[in-house]
Amino acid sequence: MSQNNWQELEQKLFLRTFSRVPLTLVRGQGAWVWDDQDKRYLDFVGGWAVDTLGHCPPVVVEALERQARTLIQVSNQFYTIPQIELAQLLVQNSCLDRVFFCNSGAEAAEGAVKLARRYGKTRLNGAYEIITTYGSFHGRTLAMTAATGQSKFQEPYEPLPNGFTNVEYNNVEAIKAATTAQTCGVMLEPIQGEGGVNVPHDSYLKEVESWCRERAVLFILDEVQTGIGRTGTLFAYEQYDVEPDIMTLAKGLGSGVPIGALLAKENVSLFSPGEHGSTFGGNPLVCAAAYATVKYIIDNDIVGKIKQVGKYCLTKLENLKQQFDFITDVRGRGLLIALEFSDEIAQDVVMACVNKGLLVNKVKPNAIRLMPPLIITENEVDEAAGILHSVFKERESRRL
Ligand SMILES: Cc1ncc(COP(=O)(O)O)c(C=O)c1O
Repeated sequence: MSQNNWQELEQKLFLRTFSRVPLTLVRGQGAWVWDDQDKRYLDFVGGWAVDTLGHCPPVVVEALERQARTLIQVSNQFYTIPQIELAQLLVQNSCLDRVFFCNSGAEAAEGAVKLARRYGKTRLNGAYEIITTYGSFHGRTLAMTAATGQSKFQEPYEPLPNGFTNVEYNNVEAIKAATTAQTCGVMLEPIQGEGGVNVPHDSYLKEVESWCRERAVLFILDEVQTGIGRTGTLFAYEQYDVEPDIMTLAKGLGSGVPIGALLAKENVSLFSPGEHGSTFGGNPLVCAAAYATVKYIIDNDIVGKIKQVGKYCLTKLENLKQQFDFITDVRGRGLLIALEFSDEIAQDVVMACVNKGLLVNKVKPNAIRLMPPLIITENEVDEAAGILHSVFKERESRRL
């Protein structure tokens, strides 16, 4: 079937939720993907910050093959070894003590809220409200839509479940003002990803953590996007001298297999059997892939390499900013980076990059986001920067 036929078929068959780039991708290797016309693209979208070790990484493929021949799914009525091994690896390498596995970021964040409500019910006289921030993103379930402080996601579904208060990001005073006797937790992304790669000031998370401790409410970090090395440490919280009571993971955890996780400190691990659960969550297949991913990252000091290549990438992009006055901001940490423009040209930039063989993400009408695989090399960064340069040059000459 030709490229157009697949895309026509999609138009006919699917509920219209995605604005897709007109590319049908059929295979990938490392930081590269190929479309059905065998054209190759350098992938700086990375499955939306998911393809941690690149496309089809041998360690994950081998783990999946091995596990697929051994045991794919049994229910959580039984013990299975891959999920216990993965839980141990996560606990040993984080400040959290216990794990619950699910299938996505939204489920992880929703689980975090449910756990916080258990805490509120048992320790805070029934407090149940969670404070979240404008510009945040916590997923697409109804409750996580209420948690997500962006009206474009909320308005189509109002009335939303109650129990969430959205306040300004990067402003601890807003959190203090919103805290009431009904508050059981504050849930934040260390860096807002979907909201536009918004990096708070360095002491923000520490200030919020201190406030949470003062009021005995839970400090919850949604590391679905920032976790698993993305920002240059295994978990972003490590860079801010804080320890969350609850942390969520998903995206990069499985290098492309759908898995989410909720981690909690011992003293807030208040679920009793039957109060939460999942059919697929933590099944042997996905846990084998996630274990292979995290183990590889730790054993090969991938976070050290990200720090270096992330810095290199930022410098390259800063150079572009010096050259093109319509680039108004370059921001990010590790390999989670945004470029903001003076005009709403992100879609044009995305398409111009596609034509030249580079995939980037429109995160706002006037900003693109780069979140390549963590194994990206400096040469590949050079190549991406070169394509961006030629796209920006064309834009500039059209304008002149
Ligand atoms: C911080 C954060 N939390 C939750 C989610 C939801 O994850 P999922 O799409 O896997 O449900 C996302 C997705 O972008 C995210 O960035």
